[in-house]
Amino acid sequence: MGKKQAVLIVVKPDGISKGLLPQIFTRLNEAGLELVAARVLQVPRVLAAEHYKHIRGKPFYETTIRHLLGVYYKNKKILAMVYCGAGAVRKCRGLAGATNPEGADPDSIRGAYGCVSSAGVFENVIHVSSDKKEAEREIKLWFSPEEISENLYKIKAKILKSTKKQVWA
Ligand code: PPS
Repeated sequence: MGKKQAVLIVVKPDGISKGLLPQIFTRLNEAGLELVAARVLQVPRVLAAEHYKHIRGKPFYETTIRHLLGVYYKNKKILAMVYCGAGAVRKCRGLAGATNPEGADPDSIRGAYGCVSSAGVFENVIHVSSDKKEAEREIKLWFSPEEISENLYKIKAKILKSTKKQVWA
């Protein structure tokens, strides 16, 4: 498995609010990466908490969660995507720039479009998986196998009997 290197990209509520999707798509496309999954959603707190479980206990944990939930913005939606290709993690981390927008290369997405709020929140536009292992964990958290157009990871068939699912009426 793991035929192609994959990375999770999340355009956060500030990125959507600022109308940055065209610029972000262009940069990812120019990096020669392929879009293989996408979801627009308002992030449930339980998903945000699992996504950021590695920073639980840090002083910026709660504000980072609230930022992803869109608490600070009228728009609360995010765009979660999986991009694939050689060196996908390294390329996307480079495009995103440093975590703190004030320290990020001005040519990077965070450096060009991010900011630190007066309350100290990193409004850094985009999340990118930190490495290959974290990318796999995050992609499996945000997407089910049938939502991804590539066979990225090992899958198995499971019959779910009492699962409530929304279907077209
Ligand atoms: S990273 O960028 O993922 O490698 O960094 P990591 O340490 O794993 O994740 C940190 C996330 O917390 C957000 N955040 C901060 N990090 C460091 N310092 C401060 N003060 C801070 N405030 C918020 C940071 O934006 C990372 O989330 P993402 O979604 O990756 O940007």
